[in-house]
Amino acid sequence: MNNNALYQLSYGVYVVSTWDKGRGTGCIANSAMQITSQPATIAVSINHDNYTNQCIQDTGKFAISILGEHCNPGVIGTFGFKSGRDNNKFDEVQQAVKGFLPVVADACGYIVCEVIDKMETSTHTVFLGKVLDADVLKQDVPMTYAYYHNVIKGKSPKNAPTYIAE
Ligand SMILES: Cc1cc2nc3c(=O)[nH]c(=O)nc-3n(C[C@H](O)[C@H](O)[C@H](O)COP(=O)(O)O)c2cc1C
Repeated sequence: MNNNALYQLSYGVYVVSTWDKGRGTGCIANSAMQITSQPATIAVSINHDNYTNQCIQDTGKFAISILGEHCNPGVIGTFGFKSGRDNNKFDEVQQAVKGFLPVVADACGYIVCEVIDKMETSTHTVFLGKVLDADVLKQDVPMTYAYYHNVIKGKSPKNAPTYIAE
């Protein structure tokens, strides 16, 4: 199999967040996509080992913060390479509450979803969310996964669904 074909798929870079007993938490995910328009539904794929998975299971809700090209790369460092199990991620990144969920204040926009279904794979849960609220927060170019790799020179950790061991 030629893994380079998988690299030809396009994605964005998002923070998928929710509440954890009153505090905001979440992780970076490239794996968000709109599934239907009427009603608007979104799917995200979150690794079983990510603390965010457990928190979404508990709350039944998640928000997607759409990161822009000019966002502080520290947002990706905090949400993509640390765990909410032992870090208060929103102590390092400014939080806003939108549609009753915590989102990244500096994002281009956000989408708030209620989980209406889920599918388990061997490593990830695919959460299907009905969109409850969404808005544009600022003018910036939404970051693509290609921009993250080619311009920021970012890496994908093991729990990202696109991870391929070297
Ligand atoms: C660019 C990038 C994309 C990622 N995409 C995903 C993803 O789609 N799904 C996922 O489960 N983890 C993904 N990750 C990994 C999680 O963000 C990472 O494991 C995080 O530390 C988990 O935090 P948590 O334990 O607080 O949930 C990605 C990380 C990066 C940097």
